[in-house]
Amino acid sequence: MKIYVCKDYERMGRVAANYLAAQINIKPDSVLGLATGSTPVGMYKELVKKYESRDISFKDIVTFNLDEYVNLPKENINSYYTFMHENLFDKIDINPENINMPDGNAKDFDSYSKEYEKAIALKGGIDLQVLGIGNNAHIGFNEPGEYFSKETTVVDLTRSTIDANSRFFDSIDEVPNQAISMGIGTIFKSEKIILLASGKTKAEAIKNTVNGPIDPHVPASILQLHKNVLLIIDEQAASLLDKNCYETV
Ligand code: F6R
Repeated sequence: MKIYVCKDYERMGRVAANYLAAQINIKPDSVLGLATGSTPVGMYKELVKKYESRDISFKDIVTFNLDEYVNLPKENINSYYTFMHENLFDKIDINPENINMPDGNAKDFDSYSKEYEKAIALKGGIDLQVLGIGNNAHIGFNEPGEYFSKETTVVDLTRSTIDANSRFFDSIDEVPNQAISMGIGTIFKSEKIILLASGKTKAEAIKNTVNGPIDPHVPASILQLHKNVLLIIDEQAASLLDKNCYETV
């Protein structure tokens, strides 16, 4: 696991966008796994700038998003569908047919989840997966538990995640208590993974991910076993790490 520590959130977004742009330049038909939430917003802004200056094109890029809330209409301002369109998809030249997002309103989640897995496999798997991390070290919406989840499935959100995400909603009662999420097994099959984290509230999760034992109660800790993981985090998120274990960029 390689770790880059950036001075602040803005720098983290630029470093992450440069990494994605390099991937897009070397493989213009890359399959990208994408995350939502506040952490990747700066990275998406930088990617849009790179698209506008013709540094990169998304015309042959395929995307699969990590997760979506269950039973939230996709037009809702807080759906990840809306988030991705507002922050990225509506601002770039991606072919809408190449956008894949889990459907939080699917009729039959069991068969839908299998279809989502199949769609990823049909595209040859994910070349580069972008992750954020929850305060409780969840990745995707794979919450701490007794085992590492395998495939895409519906998950119950923990109180900690509902509390953290309530900042986007008018009241905590409006936060859905379930989401459909790629499994940890799905995420793990990606060729390369970058995980972004910013701010003091992520410092403990980052410390446990990097130094702690591999434990399903710290879902991100499984990334220690992946062959190609880069953490791009800011100084606050890195504040509990030993200075010898990262590079400052
Ligand atoms: C979102 C996702 C989640 C978030 C995590 C951090 O697609 O998969 O794991 O990355 O909850 O959220 P923020 O970035 O809002 O702190």
